[in-house]
Amino acid sequence: MLSAAENELLTRTGKGTTAGDYLRRFWMPALLTEEIPAPDCPPVRVRLMGECLIAFRDSSGRAALVGQYCMHRQMDLFFGRNEEGGIRCAYHGWKFDADGNCVDLPTEPKGSKYKDNVHLTSYPCQEFAGIVWAYLGPKDADAQIPQFEFNSLPPENMYLRKSLLSCNYLQAMEGNLDSSHTGYLHSFSSGSALDPRGQGHGKRGGVTHQYQASLPSFEVKDTDYGCMIGAKRKSASGPAYWRVTQWLLPVHTLIAANVGETLLWDAWVPMDDEHTWVYRIEYNPWRALTKQELFEYNNVGFARLNVENIPGTYLPVRNKENDYLIDRELQRTYSYTGIKGTNAQDAAAIENQGPTPIADRTKENLSSSDLAIIRMRRKFLNVLQDFKDGVEPAPALNGDMYKVRAIAMSLEDDGVPFYEGAKELLFL
Ligand code: FES
Ligand SMILES: [Fe+2]
Repeated sequence: MLSAAENELLTRTGKGTTAGDYLRRFWMPALLTEEIPAPDCPPVRVRLMGECLIAFRDSSGRAALVGQYCMHRQMDLFFGRNEEGGIRCAYHGWKFDADGNCVDLPTEPKGSKYKDNVHLTSYPCQEFAGIVWAYLGPKDADAQIPQFEFNSLPPENMYLRKSLLSCNYLQAMEGNLDSSHTGYLHSFSSGSALDPRGQGHGKRGGVTHQYQASLPSFEVKDTDYGCMIGAKRKSASGPAYWRVTQWLLPVHTLIAANVGETLLWDAWVPMDDEHTWVYRIEYNPWRALTKQELFEYNNVGFARLNVENIPGTYLPVRNKENDYLIDRELQRTYSYTGIKGTNAQDAAAIENQGPTPIADRTKENLSSSDLAIIRMRRKFLNVLQDFKDGVEPAPALNGDMYKVRAIAMSLEDDGVPFYEGAKELLFL
């Protein structure tokens, strides 16, 4: 449990808040490359950490992220024309380039220098892994791109998707660090003929209901970039089985798979304090994704990870408004929740932690299985305190810190900590 002040500190991300200013020190996913697919394509609205923005791709192919409202009389530039190196407001024709400069101001006499004093908010963008990343922090800071392993993988080794959650980013992210929920939330009734045993989080810890008793023991290691969470399951004889999850400041999680299997990255990006964009990449550093994997990612199933979005949007079909299309008969006979898809099951949990979209952590009663969440919060509170005291976030300034993996493996119990025993697997 947290104090009300701590909860506020961690969950508020608007400009000028501590966490909001901290998050703005990092490059953040802003939208998908496919949303602005070609030069001079239609602009799209982007809401990021409460800021109202417009993304467009200019005539040279450069991705741009600028303020949504025109500097003249605030018309929404979403209705503007993206043409000839900038976006032109539909109301009176003021035009802005990708850097927010006013490049034409037709309501002033010819030769007027007025436009030189008019600047629209603009944020630098870089594109990689199918995502437009943006930096919303101070211009003089030296933020580096996080060097995730998937940044340089060929497209056939990756599967990317995006969807919206109607809750605060922190509880969404906490859901991914919570390894103990799979035995219930994603489980199936024992003995069901359709029981897809061994699935669940894309073979990542999914268990059938009958296995729920085997709770792992947790060890958490603080790192420069966040923390590493080791979940250990003992076997009767032989080595222990470890699953190592990575939390990387400020909004990234990596979920473990065995060596050779496909890994999972998520970013939990605040749209505002009550909505979160989830960016997810399934990636395999060793090989192209298989047809079977792509089938799993593209189709909905009770134990499949994919989100089915409403066509033409990034909004899930199964959402809070329709109670995730819960099927009570299937809940009685087959699936523990009666909700189709592990993502929708997760959403049902994290979007409904109390009556408001920001969970009230003063009301919690945490148990020993919440160790990872407890440690993540403590680390986050510490770095926010340091930030308040003037310490710039080290991972924002050092992209190499993101060269890590989440791996599941067997380790002999010889007294060596898991992060030492598996060093060469966890660090690239
Ligand atoms: S409001 Fe945009 S040009 Fe007038
Ligand atoms: Fe889950």
